[in-house]
Amino acid sequence: MIANQTIQQILSRIDIIEIVGTFVKLKKRGVNYLGLCPFHNEKSPSFTVSPVKEIYKCFGCGRSGNTISFLMEHEKYSYAEALRWLAARYNVEIEEKEVSPEVRQQQQMADSLYIINTFAQKFFSDTLFGSEEGQDIGLSYLKERGFNEEIMRKFQLGYGPDQRDVFARAALAAQYNLEYLQKSGLVVVRDERPMDNYRGRIIFPIHNQTGKVIGFGARIIRSNDRAPKYINTPENEIYVKSKILYGLYQARQAIDRQNECLLVEGYTDVISLHQAGIENVVASGGTSLTVDQLRLIKKYTKHLTIIYDGDGAGIKAALRGLDMALEESLDVKLVLIPDKEDPDSYVRKLGAAAFRDFVAAGKKDFILFQLEVALKDAAGDSGKKAELVNQMAETIAKINKTEDFTRQQDYIRQCAEILRIEEEGLHSLVNKFIRGRIEKQESRAAAQAATGESGIGVGTSQAADATLPPDEESISLLLRHEQNERGMIRVLLDFGLKAWDEQSSVADYILAECIDLYEMIDNKRLLKILDLYKNLYEKGQEPTTKSFLYHEDQELSTLAVSIMDLNLEISPNWKNHYEGKITTPEELYREDVLSTMHYVKLRKIKRLMEENQQDLAKPHEDEELMVLLQTHRHLKELEIQLTRHMGTVIVK
Ligand code: CTP
Ligand code: MN
Repeated sequence: MIANQTIQQILSRIDIIEIVGTFVKLKKRGVNYLGLCPFHNEKSPSFTVSPVKEIYKCFGCGRSGNTISFLMEHEKYSYAEALRWLAARYNVEIEEKEVSPEVRQQQQMADSLYIINTFAQKFFSDTLFGSEEGQDIGLSYLKERGFNEEIMRKFQLGYGPDQRDVFARAALAAQYNLEYLQKSGLVVVRDERPMDNYRGRIIFPIHNQTGKVIGFGARIIRSNDRAPKYINTPENEIYVKSKILYGLYQARQAIDRQNECLLVEGYTDVISLHQAGIENVVASGGTSLTVDQLRLIKKYTKHLTIIYDGDGAGIKAALRGLDMALEESLDVKLVLIPDKEDPDSYVRKLGAAAFRDFVAAGKKDFILFQLEVALKDAAGDSGKKAELVNQMAETIAKINKTEDFTRQQDYIRQCAEILRIEEEGLHSLVNKFIRGRIEKQESRAAAQAATGESGIGVGTSQAADATLPPDEESISLLLRHEQNERGMIRVLLDFGLKAWDEQSSVADYILAECIDLYEMIDNKRLLKILDLYKNLYEKGQEPTTKSFLYHEDQELSTLAVSIMDLNLEISPNWKNHYEGKITTPEELYREDVLSTMHYVKLRKIKRLMEENQQDLAKPHEDEELMVLLQTHRHLKELEIQLTRHMGTVIVK
């Protein structure tokens, strides 16, 4: 792990114009730089880089970030890799952080496993190509199936001899430790003696993204009822099935280039397609996709095309839980190939060009596909159909609305058409689910705040009440709240250290108004920024946007970037023109602070009023009633004051 000082050293040298300029041609335009966005195709430049704020934003595709996220996104580096790249560039010597003994032991275990796997991969490949048994049995089988040697070498295929312990003996003789050999899954202990685990099998090494061998799949050669078709590496420090996509290492450049990832079931499918020149393909190993796998794909492309046999069990597994893809903003298509075929056999049958055409022409949207299948199932059963409508609304509601608003609208239209229901109705049903989810998040954050714990104790009275009548208005209101919460954080980050009055700063003012942070801010991540800010500030440090821009928590830094306003630099505040008087920047930021704070305060007052009114509706003793009525009047007064300040009429 890289030491903190090193990270600070690297960050202090970053020149975003120079780094981004390495990959994108930039031209100075005012205080900012402008270029053609490297993340989407465009003819006129909308990719803006601000040297002052140290961020970039594309006004075309909406991508934004800091120097490190640029490298992560553009070069597909991990956070640590991006730092190392920058360190090399700026000649910063990397000091590694002291790690705990447990972490060190884990790292050592992982390193040992990589080394053993490398040794094993070489052993199996040598056996396949260089031994008599390997050639007679392994190589002839692979050739019979139509694989050429070039592709076998590209995927580093091998063969495990059909003998008790040839590999184990070689590994032990080379001083590899038996415990680690067992952990790697290559050797098992039977009758107190080491024994090879992959005897008489074709070996498919499995690589991670950077090309290291993390495990193996070992296929039996002649099918046999008593032995499993594949033996796979057991889970260990480096082989974590839920995070693996077979073939990603060999496919990643093609995926990037073609901006599409094909997903198949098996190892042989991947290899066959490669041999046919279709290289943007990975395999999941026939199980349902996990969030980690989806995120891995998303590092390269948003377009996932699943190619499965439509009648097999595989397609059902693949579709299970795929709603997650929507939350990840992935665009998932489905191509079904005929029964009894798999991509391996089918590409051999059709040839590469026809297979490509088949995929291009056969793509179906996975949501609409699911809908069609389920609709056939529900034929004539109106109860089932109603359930299906509900399900579809829930699925559509998972589309990330801020990123994919039009996509959600499209789905609503298409699904309504297929289901033969009114679009409006489906629309409001979808909104109901969105609202339910937002409320669930809100109450979870509130519960967390109340208990100081995570996750447990959810369930306040209005929590997740998805049966509330949904309406457009409530949704747009929720979005507006969010905007204003962001506004408040933005003014805090931008102007927090400026003077508010003679004694205090803007941060003093805002933090004093937010005695109870959790009541002011609903969005959990914004709350975290506010909380961090408060902590830093109270410790006497001077937090600014930059404190969050390079925060190690990527989600936070992304959020901080998205809050930052580039437009502020581009155009002078409209008030300058509008009111015809010269306003100093000083006054402008004060107004900015005041108006965001007013909104947030007003919202809090409205909430208190609502709670109070709910209380009022219950039967009360006279005295209690008096108190409640007084409270109501008091809140109403505050509301009027605030509204007057804001100079706007608040419509309820
Ligand atoms: N698989 C597995 N264990 C099994 C069967 C299958 O791990 N017992 C995984 C493997 O990753 C395999 C994939 O599921 O590649 C698809 O299975 P299948 O279609 O049966 O295997 P193929 O690799 O297509 O093998 P072949 O074409 O040689 O039959
Ligand atoms: Mn197959």
